[in-house]
Amino acid sequence: MHRPALILVRSASKTAILVLHGPNLNLLGTREPAVYGSTTLAQIDERLAGLARAANIGLQSFQSNHEGGLIDRLHAARDEQVAFIIVNPAAFTHTSVAIRDALAALAVPFVEVHLSNVHRREAFRHHSYFSDLAEAVIAGLGPYGYEAAFNYALAQLGRNQRTGT
Ligand code: DQA
Repeated sequence: MHRPALILVRSASKTAILVLHGPNLNLLGTREPAVYGSTTLAQIDERLAGLARAANIGLQSFQSNHEGGLIDRLHAARDEQVAFIIVNPAAFTHTSVAIRDALAALAVPFVEVHLSNVHRREAFRHHSYFSDLAEAVIAGLGPYGYEAAFNYALAQLGRNQRTGT
C-alpha cells in the first residue's frame, strides 16, 4: 500500500512543489539511525510544509514503497501545476529506469536528495539513474538536504521565502 499525499499546502499560487519519497523512507526515525538519523518522515514533511506556507507556495509530499506508485504519482502531476520536484528515490535510485523515464516524460526540473552520502557507502549506491537528469544532487546533509532543495526550488521559481512574492 502506498500512502496518499501526506501533506498538501494549498496556496493561491498556481505553482507547486512535489516531494517524492521512495521505499523504506516511511521507516525513517527507526531505520538504521546511524545512517539515516532520528528524524521521521513526518517531521521532514512538516518542516517543508511550514516553509511552503511561509513562502505561499503549494506543496505536496508523497511516499510509496512501490515503483508503480511513484510512477503513477508522477503521471498525475501532468495534470497539476507542479513546477518543481524534490525526489529521494531511495533504493530505486540505483535500479529504476522506469521512474527515471517518468521524470523525463514529465520534464519538470527536479533535485535528487539523499539523506546519507551515498558515495561513502557501498559501490552499488554510487550509481544513480537520476543524477544526469537532475538540476542538482544533494547527498549526506541528512534532513537539511530537503530544506536546501526546497530553498533552491523557491529561488528557481523566483519567490522570496519571507514574503512569498
Ligand atoms: C537513500 C540512499 C539509498 O542508497 C538507500 O537505498 C535509501 C536512502 C538516502 O536517502 O540516503 O533508501 O536514498
